[in-house]
Amino acid sequence: MNSRGILIAGNWKMNNGPAATGKFFSELKERAAQAMPGESLELFRNGKLKACIIPPYLSLSRALEAAKMLSFPVEIAAQNAHWEKSGAFTGEVSGQLLAELGLSWVLTGHSERRQFFGDTDETVRKRTESLLTQNFKVIACIGETRAEREAGQTEQVLTRQLRGLFPSAESGASVYLDGRLVLAYEPVWAIGTGLTATPEQAEEAHRIVRRFLSEQVDTSAAEKAQVLYGGSVTPENVNSLLACPNVDGALVGGASLKPESYLALLVAGVHAAAGR
Ligand code: PGA
Repeated sequence: MNSRGILIAGNWKMNNGPAATGKFFSELKERAAQAMPGESLELFRNGKLKACIIPPYLSLSRALEAAKMLSFPVEIAAQNAHWEKSGAFTGEVSGQLLAELGLSWVLTGHSERRQFFGDTDETVRKRTESLLTQNFKVIACIGETRAEREAGQTEQVLTRQLRGLFPSAESGASVYLDGRLVLAYEPVWAIGTGLTATPEQAEEAHRIVRRFLSEQVDTSAAEKAQVLYGGSVTPENVNSLLACPNVDGALVGGASLKPESYLALLVAGVHAAAGR
């Protein structure tokens, strides 16, 4: 038993344009009317369960609008944001621009940003800090590559990435305590590969994260921090992952693209949240 709720976040990456987004939400609404367990509304109401969809920028307005039609709340998040509020940064999007759309959640540090678009611990920290200062809720991703795991460096990498998010303990505690910073442990070798971390591997990594927070930030921040697991989560394996005491939800790519599988993940979230 713990006081942390469950968050089921769907990261659509470079998929689902505005038309597909509209279709996703109308189908989700129809399917949820049949399949969403009755107790879910109370869990949403008391904050034990949260749903989040992270569409590409182009689909954000459509998603914000469409999510309002649902009978339960779905937060809409952006996949990334620049740390400056405005300026000569061609091709970038800032928190200020996202706030104007009505957005209050952003993902940072996804391994695809780190791998393919030059994000580093330093730029992830700048994005995360800037967004938190602007009152966004942030889901920040960390995770080791296969080579790092095989070299026995998982703990070292996670610790480095976590330290990178907040260099000083004082600046760190409150954002975990009030739930504004959510962490997502996503082993890079499990993302989009069909290889999922076993529940034991996920639990072990999540314990490392919590131990770091307890030693370097604050014990109550460590207890309160929501830590998601991501990497080939599907409706088939989600229950065993959510059964891990230190796993507080899932960040899901491929299996979040279709309303039927996202809903199946959400239903698993309802059961996990009800048991907490
Ligand atoms: P996946 O992606 O579920 O398709 O492995 C997860 C992620 O990148 O967040």
